[in-house]
Amino acid sequence: MTQDELKQAVAKAAVDYIAPKLDSDSIIGVGTGSTANFFIDLLADHKTEFDGAVASSEATAERLKSHGIPVYDLNSASSLEFYIDGADEANERLELIKGGGAALTREKIVAAVAKTFICIADESKMVGILGDFPLPVEVIPMARSHVGREIVKLGGDPVYREGVVTDNGNIIIDVHNMDLSRPIDMENKINNVVGVVTNGLFARRPADVLLLGTADGVKTMT
Ligand code: A5P
Repeated sequence: MTQDELKQAVAKAAVDYIAPKLDSDSIIGVGTGSTANFFIDLLADHKTEFDGAVASSEATAERLKSHGIPVYDLNSASSLEFYIDGADEANERLELIKGGGAALTREKIVAAVAKTFICIADESKMVGILGDFPLPVEVIPMARSHVGREIVKLGGDPVYREGVVTDNGNIIIDVHNMDLSRPIDMENKINNVVGVVTNGLFARRPADVLLLGTADGVKTMT
């Protein structure tokens, strides 16, 4: 199977997982990226079975709307049953690196609110120790150099992601060669640097369920 076929398979598995649990009041959180896009396209077949969605990015909001799925501001959603999103890396504790698409801050906010976070990923995303994928950090623009110097002190190699402005008007620094063997510690340390909005480690709030697309079928990890 191709990587896209694996992504489509986990997207379908996620729709099959949530569809029986939705009702006319349900609002669900929807993530960003190519796997999330497959999910949105399949979710459209069920759009009469739930109230609407909260999007983790402007791109996702546009895609949801293009299918006629109502999009709500998070502040007007009293609760989110599910959050469904992809990842750049996942480990067996369902801790993640996210933010390859620069949407990490809104993704982390929606994940924090959702009752159940379902991560959908193809098997190439599964790792023993997080960190081969450079860790995205969203930074207030004026703090770029300061944050870079602090990241060097924490043991990482910061690289400014040229030409990218997040939906929140900030920049992204990708951190290479960082020791992420203690993900919660590093998530906290980076977030404590002044000027950091947040980083792409999802360790304090890992996924609740990982639907992993493999050549042998979709594996459900909890
Ligand atoms: C977006 O900022 C990311 O967190 C994505 O969820 C992540 O990059 C996965 O993207 P793909 O589904 O395109 O691999």
